[in-house]
Amino acid sequence: MTQELSFIHRFEQGISTAAPLLLLHGTGGNENDLLSLGRSLAPERSLLSPRGKVLENGMPRFFRRLAEGVFDEQDVIKRAHELADFIVAAGETYKLPKPIAVGFSNGANIAAAILLLRPDVLSGAILLRAMVPLAKPPQADLAQKPVLIISGASDPIIPASNANLLATMLKEAHGDVQHETLPTGHNLTQNDVTLASTWLNR
Ligand code: MLT
Repeated sequence: MTQELSFIHRFEQGISTAAPLLLLHGTGGNENDLLSLGRSLAPERSLLSPRGKVLENGMPRFFRRLAEGVFDEQDVIKRAHELADFIVAAGETYKLPKPIAVGFSNGANIAAAILLLRPDVLSGAILLRAMVPLAKPPQADLAQKPVLIISGASDPIIPASNANLLATMLKEAHGDVQHETLPTGHNLTQNDVTLASTWLNR
């Protein structure tokens, strides 16, 4: 565990100089959760994995919510900028190119917020079970950054209409968006790993 930067995080140096993966955990997770997913997706890339700073009944998250699926948008904005600043600082410390975010659930939602508010800090994103983080985001220009969204057809937390709206928002912001829906719920499956690694190594 390294703590000098503004987020508690794990950093694993890879042997490749390709864009590292920025791993963003779901509610109740931490900086260790997605390391094995990152390793399976990209065995040679560096991995940077921060822990969300917001606690909800002791469970780490990346921003506050008022209820499940109802976000404190002022906090989303503040936390997205805070995490974007960390990404820049960690890039300088570890001498990294801009990362590709790999976020699950709450981690996917903060990654989507960063795409809409600070697109320059990422080189792309894999959003696993993501939803719209901000109802009326400012106009963003993703400049054809690649984004993969993987939704679950029977996700009890995220209605299909919400995931579709996120895909539309990111396309309208000029993202190069691929949106896939798997026959599953909120949890990740082997199909997510297969789809994401195919997309990453395409
Ligand atoms: C969120 O709060 O970001 C979403 O409801 C997903 C979750 O973390 O449960």
